[in-house]
Amino acid sequence: MDRIGVGLVGTGFMGKCHAMAFGAVKAVFGDVPHIDRVALCDVDTSHAKLKASEFGFARATANWRDVLADPAIHLISITSPNGMHREMAVAALEAGKHVWCEKPMALTLADAEAMTAAAAKAKGQVTALGYAYLRNPALQYAKQLIGEGAIGEVFDFRGSVDEDYMADPSLPWSWRLTRRDAGLGTLGDLTCHLVSLAHELMGEISSLCAMADVVHGKRPVAGESGKLARVENDDIAHAVVRFRSGARGVLSSSRIAHGRKNGLRIEVHGSKGMLWLDNERMNELNLYVAEGPAAARGFRRILSSPAHPAYGKLCPAPGHGLGFNELKVIELAEILRGIQGEPSNQIDFARGLGIEKIIHAFAQSSMARAWVDIA
Ligand SMILES: NC(=O)c1ccc[n+]([C@@H]2O[C@H](COP(=O)([O-])OP(=O)(O)OC[C@H]3O[C@@H](n4cnc5c(N)ncnc54)[C@H](O)[C@@H]3O)[C@@H](O)[C@H]2O)c1
Repeated sequence: MDRIGVGLVGTGFMGKCHAMAFGAVKAVFGDVPHIDRVALCDVDTSHAKLKASEFGFARATANWRDVLADPAIHLISITSPNGMHREMAVAALEAGKHVWCEKPMALTLADAEAMTAAAAKAKGQVTALGYAYLRNPALQYAKQLIGEGAIGEVFDFRGSVDEDYMADPSLPWSWRLTRRDAGLGTLGDLTCHLVSLAHELMGEISSLCAMADVVHGKRPVAGESGKLARVENDDIAHAVVRFRSGARGVLSSSRIAHGRKNGLRIEVHGSKGMLWLDNERMNELNLYVAEGPAAARGFRRILSSPAHPAYGKLCPAPGHGLGFNELKVIELAEILRGIQGEPSNQIDFARGLGIEKIIHAFAQSSMARAWVDIA
């Protein structure tokens, strides 16, 4: 396939990010199909038209089903809010399209299961979820080092994901804080990313015991002086976990962590050493190997470079650094390889369901105040 037609649903934060990836992927990777930006959709026609012109799409619509019906489109990007993912993804698969959907998969585990079932029924179509942090060359090098035994037998994972977008208690209430429209809180926004990294480096989580809390229980309603509304989904979620390998770990997450902007941090401890990575410095992998004279031991800071695959496609100069939007270009290249029938490491719906099971198990464990086994 020399050319692939794409359709984009949603033109906000992630919609723009997907659009930039569509514009860049051929120039960056070369050996992928040309992308034809056929149509995009947003709820308001004039806004959709403006974004189509800015993002380089041939036409705009306010009806996402128009995008699905277009035979010139092979791949649909779904970047609308979580509550629409199930309906849009299942319909896109039924229309014969490949689907690139943002995370989390859906509001409920049942919805994520329905999406996975639709993907299983599809005929050769590729599905992919937006777990972009997995595409960080530094993270993939950490995985390689673990696989090569650089830190010995791996027995412990520490991970946290903290942001401060809801840290101010006076920020107004919105639909994002309701179970019906947003589903889980921090768990759906942030913890799922942390779980994707834990699974990538350690294998699957098999059981967990969690605590998920609302801390700022009421927030002011915008424009209605003195009126407060209830926050229904988690601000903070922590768990101790067991991996299928027998290793253990601690995962913590918060959307009310003042000062943290993209505080996704992981540590992997092994019998010969340890490595850690902090997404706020995403081009630096830190490695400690317990060898050599004790006086000379310490962490090595490894800067991402063309020696770490995919980095060199974006930048020939070591240490100059990649950013979040470039990870999306790498993510898209993986998806295009999958569509071409080549080996690809994208997170498809079946793998994504494994992540959803964990975040919903956090909520279940917290409610029951008990350990939960993952089926
Ligand atoms: N992978 C990541 O790191 C990451 C980061 C942020 C958000 N996300 C996910 O991306 C998704 C979107 O988040 P966002 O931050 O881009 O939100 P956003 O609010 O910035 O954008 C959502 C867009 O969807 C549009 N929309 C809503 N209903 C629609 C409909 N019926 N038809 C067409 N368009 C519709 C909105 O008008 C808006 O343009 C969410 O699922 C979120 O969890 C992922």
